[in-house]
Amino acid sequence: MSMLRTKAVEDVLARGGELRRRLGPFSLMGFGIGIVIGTGIFTLTGVEARDHAGPAVTVSFVLAGVASLLAALCYAELASSVPTAGSAYTYAYATMGEIFAWIIGWDLVLEFALGAAVVARGWSGYLASLLDLPPSLFGEDSVVNVGAIVITLLLGAVATVGIQQSSRVTNALVLVKVGICVFVVVAGLFFLKAANLTPFVPPAQPAGESESGLTQPLSQLLFGIEPSAFGITGVLTAAAVVFFAYTGFEAVANLGEETRKPSRDLPLGLFGTLGVSAVLYVAVSFVVVGMVDYRQIDPGAPIASAFESVGAGWAAHLVSIAAVAGLTSVILVDIVAIGRIGFAMSRDRLLPPAVGRIHTRWGTPYRITIAVTLGIALLAGFVPLSSLANLVSIGTLFAFVTVSLAVPVLRRTKPALERPFRVPLSPVVPVLSALACLYLMTNLSVETWLRFLAWLAVGLVVYFAYGHRQASLPDVSSRR
Ligand code: ALA
Repeated sequence: MSMLRTKAVEDVLARGGELRRRLGPFSLMGFGIGIVIGTGIFTLTGVEARDHAGPAVTVSFVLAGVASLLAALCYAELASSVPTAGSAYTYAYATMGEIFAWIIGWDLVLEFALGAAVVARGWSGYLASLLDLPPSLFGEDSVVNVGAIVITLLLGAVATVGIQQSSRVTNALVLVKVGICVFVVVAGLFFLKAANLTPFVPPAQPAGESESGLTQPLSQLLFGIEPSAFGITGVLTAAAVVFFAYTGFEAVANLGEETRKPSRDLPLGLFGTLGVSAVLYVAVSFVVVGMVDYRQIDPGAPIASAFESVGAGWAAHLVSIAAVAGLTSVILVDIVAIGRIGFAMSRDRLLPPAVGRIHTRWGTPYRITIAVTLGIALLAGFVPLSSLANLVSIGTLFAFVTVSLAVPVLRRTKPALERPFRVPLSPVVPVLSALACLYLMTNLSVETWLRFLAWLAVGLVVYFAYGHRQASLPDVSSRR
């Protein structure tokens, strides 16, 4: 049963000190917004308005934001009471046991590393269209995606040399993308047409082409629920898809050992990130569906085309700049986060201790950061990944379910633990959060589930071949 051993919270709290406490609430929000606002708002708004929700795609963004908020409440309680670089991985170790912790750690590697690789390829494509670069080196069909490799290596270097350097670069990129999003909203308001917003929720109708086999949602395979277009169900379907736009905010929790006042600042960082992103998403999506009839919306580049359609083509360039800046910071924060998770896992010996070593001058887990950067660069440079993007969502949701359940478990096993932030109405809110995430997971395709399960199976093989034995060695006896 040693694989179910848990790590005592006291031991987790007694650790730390290897990483440097340099971050305050605004840096945390910078990192949070840096990783959250990426491709989601720039692409999904168009597809979902056209295919599932009509102008009510704005409501879908609200609903997905509420599901994210439930999870953020749970993260805020755990992050403020057990601030650690491992985040969900460490919370699972403290509540559910080592094997679950390993699975979550392995799952987070998938979320952040694959996320960075997918986004690096997207970045390359956006840059190519912005600057008219050759698709043979920057496009999705290139044999070697040079753009994706170069950007990954550059950002990996920034993440390696310091958390403050990463914070400065991220903040600059965040200012650009948030500034341009605000501009889109303000400029777009002048072109709104009431006719485009009515009916706000178009009447339900059967989905044009229904999916089958591996591409159908799991809910359809298990419960025979056919996806429909428009109406309330269409709005819910779109909410499940646009949830992707909110993923990443939980990376703030991985900065727990680098935050000056974690008990106060981690909740501020999490809620600030989510608040700013949600307001921007709702406002941007409202303006886009108000500018263009949802039936004529461009699914590929909805915001840029909306401006072109009203004769303001120059604004389309600004949107492309926001997209490139947005994607750059997503990759950087992905690399920063994964370094912290790898560091926490190697400190517990589930990964070789040498890989988690902290650089004496830079104060970063430089070895794991460099190794991960090289891995991401190879993946992004040579493998077409767009079909794997949903794996990032399922990985995120799986971590959210675990964190939601960890809240009531820790309340029972450690009732006296100081909790600077408490989820209201526990266990109701954590259970609602877990159910919302499970609902969103069942909306993902059977194919995504199979790939995810295959990844977890590989993880279990690695665990039994290495981590389980190493973590069992004496002298890491910080378990109860
Ligand atoms: N939330 C990030 C995005 O929308 C991953 O691109």
